[in-house]
Amino acid sequence: MTVRKLTGMSSLDRPIRCAMRAKTCVITGASGGIGLATARALRERGFDVWIVGRDPDKLARVEAELGAVAFRADFSSLDEVRALADALLARGRAIDVLINNAGVWHQRFTRSRDGFEDTFAVNHLAPYLLTRLLLPRLRQSDEPRVVHVSSRLHHQAGQTSSLRGRAVHLVNVLGVPLRAVPAAFEEDRLDRVEGYRGLEAYARSKLAQIVFSNELARREPRVASNALHPGSVATDVTRDSAVLSLLIKLGGFVIKTPEQGARTSVHLASEPALRGVSGRYFANCREAEPARVVHDRALAERLWALSADRVGLPA
Ligand SMILES: NC(=O)c1ccc[n+]([C@@H]2O[C@H](COP(=O)([O-])OP(=O)(O)OC[C@H]3O[C@@H](n4cnc5c(N)ncnc54)[C@H](OP(=O)(O)O)[C@@H]3O)[C@@H](O)[C@H]2O)c1
Repeated sequence: MTVRKLTGMSSLDRPIRCAMRAKTCVITGASGGIGLATARALRERGFDVWIVGRDPDKLARVEAELGAVAFRADFSSLDEVRALADALLARGRAIDVLINNAGVWHQRFTRSRDGFEDTFAVNHLAPYLLTRLLLPRLRQSDEPRVVHVSSRLHHQAGQTSSLRGRAVHLVNVLGVPLRAVPAAFEEDRLDRVEGYRGLEAYARSKLAQIVFSNELARREPRVASNALHPGSVATDVTRDSAVLSLLIKLGGFVIKTPEQGARTSVHLASEPALRGVSGRYFANCREAEPARVVHDRALAERLWALSADRVGLPA
């Protein structure tokens, strides 16, 4: 048996704690996968973590493990997002970091409780609404940050029906950084049942997240808003697709663990050197190049207005 001598923690081992008060970080989709790994890592760094999930049993387990405050909300319902925001606002404390991590992939067309295509509703409309409703508390922070967990698959928005798009997708799932040609965001296809393709809906929702992140950065200069690709990570996100789940399993060495997948989220949430960095896209804890279309300001304004209309907020 190996006995390790305990010599006390070095300054490097010690969790990083703020001198005045622990920073508060809200993490959605923290009941499993990348979100849970992110919550664990930020807790270790001394953050006061507020976790959000939709499954009460999973939430209770995470709450017990992390000693974190837990909030339940199903992002398929905008009413539940509003109730969540009310509960978070009612805590009466500044929010330093919001990590919009919850995400879904549907193989078949699924409608949200508000009647919208569910991938767009959960991955974009819910975080759009939550972020806007939490802005008053984010603005109370000395250095507010919003982190949007998007995906490299945003590059494929609007072009997944082509043979090239499909080939690029398969290669992308295995983690090779091959890029498709950027395509325009197709608002008119959002809720179309005919010809629905899970990959297309997912890619579009992930593109919307980055476009929203950049527009938020422009509209709220004091709030650092950045988006990221976590890598190809072995989680439940592909549970709806037997083919993708198999690819993830076969991916072996190029597929990340949830802990590895959480690193860029943790970096964007906590790295002091990123103070003032906003409106960027990251992968592997480094700035990366998103699809060119995310720089289209007219597109961003249209998406902002369309989203505001759908969630019932003024543009
Ligand atoms: N894994 C990858 O390779 C990969 C690659 C690129 C981007 N991403 C993104 O990373 C983020 C985290 O995903 P993951 O890979 O960790 O997958 P995951 O294990 O399936 O985690 C997704 C989280 O989102 C929650 N969620 C799903 N639908 C929800 C809804 N309607 N309301 C509230 N919460 C909901 C899930 O809750 P339940 O536990 O109740 O299902 C879970 O906590 C997602 O935004 C995903 O798109 C993942």
